[in-house]
Amino acid sequence: MHPVFHHIGIVGAGTMGSGIAQVFAQRGYTVSLCDLAAGQLEKALSTVGKNLRSDLDKNRINAEQREQTLRNIQTFSDINALANSDLIIEAVSENFESKKEVFVSLDQTCSDHTILASNTSSISITQLASVTQRGDRVIGIHFMNPVPVMKLVEVIRGVHTSGDTVATAIDLLRDLDKVAVVVNDSPGFVSNRVLMPMINEAIFCVFEGVGTVEAVDSVMKLGMNHPMGPLSLADLIGLDVCLDIMETLYTGFNDSKYRPCPLLKKMVAAGCLGRKSGQGFYQYSQ
Ligand code: CAA
Repeated sequence: MHPVFHHIGIVGAGTMGSGIAQVFAQRGYTVSLCDLAAGQLEKALSTVGKNLRSDLDKNRINAEQREQTLRNIQTFSDINALANSDLIIEAVSENFESKKEVFVSLDQTCSDHTILASNTSSISITQLASVTQRGDRVIGIHFMNPVPVMKLVEVIRGVHTSGDTVATAIDLLRDLDKVAVVVNDSPGFVSNRVLMPMINEAIFCVFEGVGTVEAVDSVMKLGMNHPMGPLSLADLIGLDVCLDIMETLYTGFNDSKYRPCPLLKKMVAAGCLGRKSGQGFYQYSQ
């Protein structure tokens, strides 16, 4: 447990928010998880419960640890309930306007010492910080999906982020047994500047009939030793998230090399968002 930061707030109880809630709660932090949709909060608690059940079945935790972790997570629909948190991680949809609303509101209600972090995959931390009066205490803390499994957390330093804020983020992540890699603010940072164009290119291969979905994934899995193919990974991340990130790269750099594949746009318009909607490049039973 971090010596000072004990109370973690999380805004957005989707896939990432629930994973982040789980890893902090497992380490004994008090977690306040906030979402406007009650159904989303229920789903998040159910996912955490299921993950902990799996850990229990594998004898990695005991029943008391499972119960305590669940007790460490409280849910709220009012963002003001997070005001006394030491660190708040925003994990709402990958859209600047939605995130801006959250940051403006948190900046007004939170204690002076509260660090405001975004789990954004690609949006500028400097721009988010600019809507607050605490640019030195705004940072990117970008977890990877699935959060309980992936070691890496990309820590993004905005122009005004202080050294103390970066050091606190690194200490907290070390306590979660994660490895923090610090990078500077730029569209897509490092992770998605490298990953997303690869996924987008894989979609172009299908769009242009160069290979089937299975062929493209097999080439990358068996030929490059990736744990899953890029199209399967796109389904895991969510095709809407992939499109949002490509749009951020495209507009952020004004460079046509980042143009999203028309097939990606079409699938998102059709509601084929990957695992979460039951249909993406592959079909999933809900
Ligand atoms: N939540 C919690 N745990 C999960 C999980 C989930 N959603 N999915 C899998 N796991 C756990 C399993 O329980 C299993 O745990 P144990 O080894 O402790 O038993 C372990 O992960 C391995 O799972 P499986 O055996 O079922 O399957 P696998 O070996 O194929 O691994 C995987 C699954 C971990 C997802 C692996 O395929 C993988 O690493 N894929 C790549 C994931 C990746 O690249 N993530 C980054 C995405 S990019 C991103 O997140 C950033 C962004 O901004 C878009």
